[in-house]
Amino acid sequence: MKRMIGILTGITSVILLSSLSFQKYNGLPADTYTDSLRRLYSKPLAEWPRPFIDTTVQHWQELGLLPASPIATDSLQPLINLGKLLFFDPRLSGSGQISCATCHVPDLSWTDGREKAVGHDQQVNTRNTPTIFNVWFYKNLFWDGRSNSLEDQAFGPINSEIEMHGDMSLLPSKLEEIKGYAPLFKAAYGTETVDADKVAHALAIFQKTVVSRKSDFDYFLSGDKNRLTDAAVRGLHLFRTKARCMNCHNGPLFTDNDFHNIGLTYYGRKYEDLGRYNVTRKASDVGKFKTPSLRDVIRTRPWMHNGLFDNIEGVLNMYSAGMPQPKRKPEQMSDTLFPVTSPLIKRLDLTKQEKDDIIAFLNAITAEPWKMRIPVLPK
Ligand code: HEC
Ligand code: HEC
Repeated sequence: MKRMIGILTGITSVILLSSLSFQKYNGLPADTYTDSLRRLYSKPLAEWPRPFIDTTVQHWQELGLLPASPIATDSLQPLINLGKLLFFDPRLSGSGQISCATCHVPDLSWTDGREKAVGHDQQVNTRNTPTIFNVWFYKNLFWDGRSNSLEDQAFGPINSEIEMHGDMSLLPSKLEEIKGYAPLFKAAYGTETVDADKVAHALAIFQKTVVSRKSDFDYFLSGDKNRLTDAAVRGLHLFRTKARCMNCHNGPLFTDNDFHNIGLTYYGRKYEDLGRYNVTRKASDVGKFKTPSLRDVIRTRPWMHNGLFDNIEGVLNMYSAGMPQPKRKPEQMSDTLFPVTSPLIKRLDLTKQEKDDIIAFLNAITAEPWKMRIPVLPK
């Protein structure tokens, strides 16, 4: 009986709090409201209020502690060392001037701070450079998911005309001429011979060791209940409920590992990017992009596949307004490729306070910056 009452009060408080979030604290003093939320979220994850997830969403995961990378750093040290050097080595590029780290800069949370990447000969890419934090987790890489593994992915930028303008087929002999690499390849692979697969493999292993640091949210989950500010606690609740973010940004890394159209296709316009459709050729995939992890998001500006937003308020304003919902022009009535913004995106009408609270939560899942010394390259 006691248990029953416990469950009932639990449910009522969830309903009460969920409806409260629609009206600004529903007349309750802000601290009373926030205190009750903090109590709820101080319980084990399994007892948290259920998030608002649409019934059409088949797979979702609860948020959670930062997971460890599957790479066992101690046993693979020679491989990781080699991969790291290759990552920082501009000799992988055609001009000898661009390395992976030119665009994935450690001090900039492994991005480049630019709207769109700039590569070989100052050519501008059509897309924004994503961070490589936690990339081990993605089932598909790139904004459109055109690569299925990090091993395969590395060939992309090296061979790309506008990125590194290199040639993966010529690279092995080029690297074999650099004496200092011989012992490193031997330590990693048992022989000094270099081939393209080893280069890609070592790069992949190194990248799998690049993971976010623990954030205030992780410390909060581990029991340090004062690690989240009041605003961040309210933001956490909004993220899971009224603001609907959890429909896509779920699980410990805040991504469902899936693709969605949130309205940024620019269909039929100069900056059109059909996204996932370019890979699958399925009309339903027009305008879909990979859901990016939101860990460290405050440090990876500008945001979105095209670097559209340079301030986080802009992102929240756009979500609150329900994102662009393009309407067909008369001549587009029978256009089978016309993009449809995901029905998971809805007008939210968030108040200024609510947007600020969500931003406080995004700050709480952003950890201290990563510092890495640029390694001395082999000669
Ligand atoms: C000229 C800048 C530039 C260089 C150099 C560069 N990248 Fe990238 N990287 C990008 C851009 C832009 C994207 C997104 C491209 C897309 O989605 O179409 C990307 C995507 C990625 C991704 C996918 C991340 C994800 O979340 O899907 C990985 C991994 C990656 N790069 C690793 C590397 C490696 C390894 C190298 C060196 C061999 C490298 N990059 C060189 C700009 C660059
Ligand atoms: C329908 C699924 C969906 C929902 C709901 C959703 N997002 Fe996203 N989010 C995405 C996708 C997909 C992208 C990448 C879109 C693109 O680049 O065109 C994205 C991008 C972002 C980015 C930029 C990240 C980066 O690295 O560039 C932020 C920040 C973000 N979302 C925050 C939120 C917040 C906050 C909410 C709730 C208010 C939310 N999202 C709701 C799917 C979603």
